[in-house]
Amino acid sequence: MSTVNSAGTFKLGNHNVNRLGYGAMQLAGPGVFGPPKDPKAALAVLREAVASGVNHIDTADFYGPHVTNQIIREALHPYPDDLVLVTKISARRGADGSWIPALSRNELIQAVHDNLRNLGLEVLDVVNLRSMFNVHHPAEGSIEAPLTVLAELQQQGLVRHIGLSNVTPTQIAQGRKLCDIVCVQNHYNVAQRAEDALIDDLARDGIPYVPYFPLGGFTPLQSSTLSDVAARLGVTPMQVALAWLLRRSANILLIPGTSSVAHLRENLAAAQLTLAPSVVQELDGIAV
Ligand SMILES: NC(=O)c1ccc[n+]([C@@H]2O[C@H](COP(=O)([O-])OP(=O)(O)OC[C@H]3O[C@@H](n4cnc5c(N)ncnc54)[C@H](OP(=O)(O)O)[C@@H]3O)[C@@H](O)[C@H]2O)c1
Repeated sequence: MSTVNSAGTFKLGNHNVNRLGYGAMQLAGPGVFGPPKDPKAALAVLREAVASGVNHIDTADFYGPHVTNQIIREALHPYPDDLVLVTKISARRGADGSWIPALSRNELIQAVHDNLRNLGLEVLDVVNLRSMFNVHHPAEGSIEAPLTVLAELQQQGLVRHIGLSNVTPTQIAQGRKLCDIVCVQNHYNVAQRAEDALIDDLARDGIPYVPYFPLGGFTPLQSSTLSDVAARLGVTPMQVALAWLLRRSANILLIPGTSSVAHLRENLAAAQLTLAPSVVQELDGIAV
């Protein structure tokens, strides 16, 4: 059994994926814009992830833009049969690196074709529609129009499964009336726990919840509790943060991002870290 397997699996679309996966956003240049400083390191991270048992990779064609998908293709194509590549659509990048909503019918169709071309695929396994009523956090508003376009692309055979990102419970309910929703990707980690109830609701329905910024994102989590626990257990604070998420709910799938093979190895080793109930209680106190 590989290290990654020790965290178990959960169904994502047609596949049972290992709960410890990988998020590819950090492979682009600074600010998720342009090429990486060290392209060889980016290829090495992806190859090491898959060789270690990762079979769930999160990406988007607007990372770079195009760069991250092109690196994934170069590193891993032809893809292993069990690898689930999850991408997301609904934004484009300005010349200055800004994130611009791109939710018109033509933009969504273009985004699916861009992902297909840059990943070298004929069908995208999972496409998350990312709501953009607020770029930084879920905000109410109808997702019916863009989701209907994505469902049409699914019917045309270009997309196998549909997920949602940056969405409210109301939008998830609306989405589930329009089509099958196979995963939800929102902001959550040991310190940011606003979505505890949503995670439990999705768990009851067997829908994976994929927290983005599991390590805190661009400014990784810093907490004396996390550091104290890590020191006592002889592991790193990032490993504790990931182990806490794995224990939080069986439907949580992890996609920690890194541009470093050393950090990747450290993160994947969290699959083997079991936290005692008293430690979990201590970590629960970190929530802001
Ligand atoms: N749906 C959405 O709106 C959305 C938004 C953001 C992200 N995402 C997805 O979620 C994935 C995860 O989010 P993320 O990558 O932004 O944030 P993250 O996984 O919370 O953290 C990544 C940051 O932590 C650092 N890091 C990783 N492992 C480390 C370790 N072991 N020790 C110390 N530092 C470590 C990385 O730097 P190094 O490169 O130096 O390791 C990077 O700065 C992304 O890759 C992307 O696929 C989705």
